[in-house]
Amino acid sequence: MKYDVKDLALVKLGKGRVEWANRQMPVLNLIRKNFEKEKPLKGIRIAACLHVTTETAVLMHTLKAGGAELALCASNPLSTQDDVSAYLVKEAKISTFAVKGEDRERYYRHLNAALDLKPHITMDDGADLVGTIHGERKDLVKGMIGGTEETTTGVIRLRSLADQGKLRLPVIAVNDAMTKHFFDNRYGTGQSTIDGILRATNILYAGKNFVVVGYGQCGRGVANRARGMGANVIVCEVDPLRALEALMDGYRVMPIKKAAKEGDVFVTVTGDLKAIDECAIKLMKDGAILANSGHFDVEINKPALHKLARRVREIRPFVQEFELRNGRKIYLLGEGRLINLAAAEGHPSLVMDMSFANQALSCRYLVQDGKKLDKKVYVVPRELDDEIARLKLKSMGIRIDQLSKEQQKYLCSWEVGT
Ligand code: ADE
Repeated sequence: MKYDVKDLALVKLGKGRVEWANRQMPVLNLIRKNFEKEKPLKGIRIAACLHVTTETAVLMHTLKAGGAELALCASNPLSTQDDVSAYLVKEAKISTFAVKGEDRERYYRHLNAALDLKPHITMDDGADLVGTIHGERKDLVKGMIGGTEETTTGVIRLRSLADQGKLRLPVIAVNDAMTKHFFDNRYGTGQSTIDGILRATNILYAGKNFVVVGYGQCGRGVANRARGMGANVIVCEVDPLRALEALMDGYRVMPIKKAAKEGDVFVTVTGDLKAIDECAIKLMKDGAILANSGHFDVEINKPALHKLARRVREIRPFVQEFELRNGRKIYLLGEGRLINLAAAEGHPSLVMDMSFANQALSCRYLVQDGKKLDKKVYVVPRELDDEIARLKLKSMGIRIDQLSKEQQKYLCSWEVGT
């Protein structure tokens, strides 16, 4: 078995932490039991490029139980939990290529090592596997059934490939399932971003001016949780509807250049580049803290920070101090990479349970129905989404009411009016 991980001796720590995560992933556990019996992925090779966390390990177990042969690489150079990669190799016997802090060359070497499996299915978080298959590894397309995509940024990249008529396989946008983005993006990113900033800095949120740049599902979650901790939240948003929503949710809304002068902490969650650009950085107060929770490290203009700085040093783990020529000090967390995974442990297991249930069931769907699909980006079939929501509620011991026959009929009728 091929692998590249930091230190196999970390296996014990990884084992305990994966067990802990597994306890909080009941839906995936149910799917695993079903997969063990039915083996829907028998003979299927899956290359996965995901954040290598305890939750991902539970997903890998599930896919393996379904009969799949697996190779896993990291979807971000800074998100790998080295004890988990050790556990995956040593205990779970899964080919894993992931080392926290790997450089760009090693990152792509790992990605290509996973693709060497010649997968039938790719599982992406950010579309790097599919991107590489459409670039240097086009030879792999012919053996493939399709792919799945975990995150908003990846889905945007794939839709752009499809719009240009260049997408060469069907891909399921797991991100767009309700049981994924309503929960993972909002509650997962909301909590874990706060957690990442706290672990890196140990700052007090109460009373701080906390600027959230981007008010999609992730931005909503981050803003809400920061408010819950007593911060004064400011939202910057380019979309008028979302800006209006932020305003009516009770936040101050303003352009980044105004927020730059007021903010103590800034978090980008836009999916776009230079959401915090040089002009904003120049206006910031001494001591301003910058963090990103979007997929790529392009949202804060890092080259501009370096250009403006006369001195850069790591003042504590995951905190870089940029001493600007104007005398002010600006602090960048986790090198501008996803702070929730760089400095903390990513989203809690309970929420990843639903995201990864979507991944597992989408793989089964691709095996069963992939041949009927066009080279397009598909949403997760609604029945799967509903099933996951039902199972999640059940696992939490929550029961809900059902419509009566009369109510159902009323909702399908037009005759009864005022
Ligand atoms: N993305 C965000 N949080 C994650 C986690 N805990 N595991 C895998 N991918 C993630």
